[in-house]
Amino acid sequence: MDNKLITIEWKNDKLVLIDQTKLPNEIKYEEFETVESVWDAIQVMKVRGAPAIGVAAGYGLYLGIKDAPEESFEAFWKVLKEASDYLATSRPTAVNLFWALERMEKVAEDNSNMDIADLKNLLFEEAVAIHKEDEDTNKKIGENLLTLLEDKMGILTHCNAGLLATTKYGTATAPMYLAKEKGWDLKIYADETRPRLQGSTLTALELQMAGIDVTVITDSMAATVMDQGKINAVIVGTDRVAANGDVANKIGTLGVSILAKNYNIPFYVAAPTSTIDLNTKTGETIPIEERDKEEVINRFGEYTALKDSNVYNPAFDVTPHENVTAIITEKGIVKAPYDENIKKLFHNDN
Ligand code: MRU
Repeated sequence: MDNKLITIEWKNDKLVLIDQTKLPNEIKYEEFETVESVWDAIQVMKVRGAPAIGVAAGYGLYLGIKDAPEESFEAFWKVLKEASDYLATSRPTAVNLFWALERMEKVAEDNSNMDIADLKNLLFEEAVAIHKEDEDTNKKIGENLLTLLEDKMGILTHCNAGLLATTKYGTATAPMYLAKEKGWDLKIYADETRPRLQGSTLTALELQMAGIDVTVITDSMAATVMDQGKINAVIVGTDRVAANGDVANKIGTLGVSILAKNYNIPFYVAAPTSTIDLNTKTGETIPIEERDKEEVINRFGEYTALKDSNVYNPAFDVTPHENVTAIITEKGIVKAPYDENIKKLFHNDN
């Protein structure tokens, strides 16, 4: 896979992120040295996409503790917990954020007897492990997804579940990159994804840079391309999968799933197991982020509605599991009944 975009890097003791708010017009990398600046990068979406948020949070937490007091575990833990709780407030929906922070906290708790300087190194290694595992996970998701696809298919995707949302390959885009390596010609349709336009500014950019055939459509064109027979499968990513298989993803995904059902098109969800939240029983209790009204009425440098318009801007929606043909994880493909089969996925760990 050949693509020059690097979502996240750790370089010279600093976190380096590509600033996704500037894409596709400017490729700008920014360095982060404090937990506060990482919080801000997640909040304003310089880094976004569930797995990438998790990786950034791991490094962010390390930045928050690297200068913490070393004389006692209690004093160290206080700083760590404060930094972790603070990072957890950056965005509410992607469960990978909380998953990564909990993973870091557990390393600290399990090694509370260790010399604090050594524990800091161990926490850094854990952040690196979260980062490195992501690449392997995505490749496996891609391989599993590829078994459901064929050469020459038309595929619709929504938002960006690409390499820019992860560390490499992406989740929904992983089979697209792998298909390209195999010499297949998939035809990808990228919903532009209002209001933040992750489909046109990010997905179309990264696929085009990799030489993959991608066509941008507005969200309202999805029904038309399906009706015209151009779409053989929908593949989306997710921010959180509930224990019953309900899927939270970028606003608009629910509508795409309803259309896919109408046109008898399989609706696939690419999900690393780190995005499956067994503690959330159904989609109803997934916290849905609401973002600033300016995203909706002022995304193009000028107001597209009256400045004082009433605006509703939920950033995510929930697709009921009935609309999901399969959830594709690094550990295998899960189909209905989801509550039972998702549980099995985790039990196979033992
Ligand atoms: O608001 P965003 O851009 O962070 O939303 C991203 C998505 O909805 C993605 O589809 C999801 O996080 C999966 S990324 C592999």
